[in-house]
Amino acid sequence: MRSYEKPDTWSLRAQREGYPARSVYKLKEMDEKFRLVPSPAGAGGTKPGFRALDLGAAPGSWSLYTLRKLAGTGFLAAADLSPLSRRYDRGLFDGENFFFVQGDITAPEIRKTLEEKGPYRLVMCDAAPLTTGNRQVDTLRSLELAETALDCAESTLEKGGNFVVKIFQGGDTAALLAKIRGLFDSGRAFKPAACRGESFEVYYLGLGRNSQL
Ligand SMILES: C[S@@+](CC[C@H](N)C(=O)[O-])C[C@H]1O[C@@H](n2cnc3c(N)ncnc32)[C@H](O)[C@@H]1O
Repeated sequence: MRSYEKPDTWSLRAQREGYPARSVYKLKEMDEKFRLVPSPAGAGGTKPGFRALDLGAAPGSWSLYTLRKLAGTGFLAAADLSPLSRRYDRGLFDGENFFFVQGDITAPEIRKTLEEKGPYRLVMCDAAPLTTGNRQVDTLRSLELAETALDCAESTLEKGGNFVVKIFQGGDTAALLAKIRGLFDSGRAFKPAACRGESFEVYYLGLGRNSQL
């Protein structure tokens, strides 16, 4: 699918394919390009011990995508200020390999709860602040969330693990990318096709955590 297609093409496709949000196609594209979530069992690769963390998970498309791909193996922990949508999950959010906590990912008690569920092989963060329309304020809040996610990744990702975080462009994001490059074998920015044309969001990826916890 190409980026010039209307944004609601993605939303309609998400509904059709049983996801509560179009954002699933951003993760799907990054997964296909950077191999973030292991292949399903039988297709040569799901590691039973694979554990992932989804920060800013509601309404739940990234979590659903991950759980569907893991097909009952592995484990996913997720957190959001808002509850997950139960419209499409068909019981997956009740499974033993899933844990969700409703709360603020910047709050120490939520961080502690999530850290206790680790260590993880993948930490992903699609959290976004409620936008105010003031780009300076919005980018600063986005940066704070991304820094929280990176702190969390630093303390919970096992060696070789991967990190994905959404960031609003325009703020002082260079230091964040530099820190990612220091913690991972490689760090880069990537803008999936499903990001709306006018959107100033981009994803930073850290691939291959370079040290033991
Ligand atoms: C774009 S949505 C995430 C969509 C999700 N990846 C999906 O596929 O369904 C951004 C989410 O970030 C969450 N969020 C923003 N600030 C947060 C915070 N401090 N703690 C937890 N969640 C937060 C919002 O509640 C919102 O649900």
